[in-house]
Amino acid sequence: MIDHNTVAFVSGANRGLGAQFVARLLARGAGKVYAASRARHVDIDDARVVPVTLDITDDECVTHAARLAADTTLLINNAGVNRHSSFLAPLNIDDARAEMDVNFFGTLRMARAFAPMLIDRRGAMINVLSILARVSLPAMGSLCASKAAALRLTESLRAELGPHGVRVLAALPGAIDTDMSRDFEGPKLDPADTADAALDALAGMAGEAYIGAMAHGLAQGLALDRAATHAQLLSTP
Ligand SMILES: NC(=O)c1ccc[n+]([C@@H]2O[C@H](COP(=O)([O-])OP(=O)(O)OC[C@H]3O[C@@H](n4cnc5c(N)ncnc54)[C@H](OP(=O)(O)O)[C@@H]3O)[C@@H](O)[C@H]2O)c1
Repeated sequence: MIDHNTVAFVSGANRGLGAQFVARLLARGAGKVYAASRARHVDIDDARVVPVTLDITDDECVTHAARLAADTTLLINNAGVNRHSSFLAPLNIDDARAEMDVNFFGTLRMARAFAPMLIDRRGAMINVLSILARVSLPAMGSLCASKAAALRLTESLRAELGPHGVRVLAALPGAIDTDMSRDFEGPKLDPADTADAALDALAGMAGEAYIGAMAHGLAQGLALDRAATHAQLLSTP
């Protein structure tokens, strides 16, 4: 699926999972990788990497990036924030707004800007969500709401873009070993393995890729006994 004809665009490419998407795309032979970040900084030294400045909450910035990267065949909407905020926490309204701005509206803005070129090239889009798009963890309730909104967005985009030959994949990993989960003490996925799993899933037909034991376990639990799985999560401190 990834070869020298692949021109990928990765948001949030300066660190964490995004940096590993760039590395794994290069290792798989992608022809060009636009590595987009707010600070226009990437550590990888490879002639195929094109650094791009991008804040996905900024209309002009997104439009400019899409114009610059008009040959994109694979858009990876990876940028995201998690304020680790419960709904009744003092500053939750600000946290919830920031999470929706990036995780939902940012992804929507990117999808709208890149859709024409993906349609032209019968390309693909990976939206990096989280297994928390499917369940609520009260300690980060507004993050879950923003990822759930992004999952609905992804489903609608699939319906709109699918008839044009564009594959739209939701990646739903469990906890990953990046800055975002630095305080989580349970088992965490390796970011390079997570990127590989999402790229591998492009070759299949499924609309959702559950990545890692945590995501698989929760997805299975939801399929078998939705109420019990929700109850278990809702009682997690
Ligand atoms: N870590 C986990 O446990 C976990 C689990 C499931 C899903 N995910 C998802 O995986 C994706 C990558 O997260 P990560 O774990 O790599 O976290 P991370 O290390 O905190 O990286 C987040 C990335 O998103 C970028 N970003 C944030 N707001 C942005 C904006 N407005 N415009 C452009 N870029 C922006 C950050 O840029 P700056 O460096 O400029 O801040 C950074 O590059 C996210 O969508 C996250 O929700 C993570």
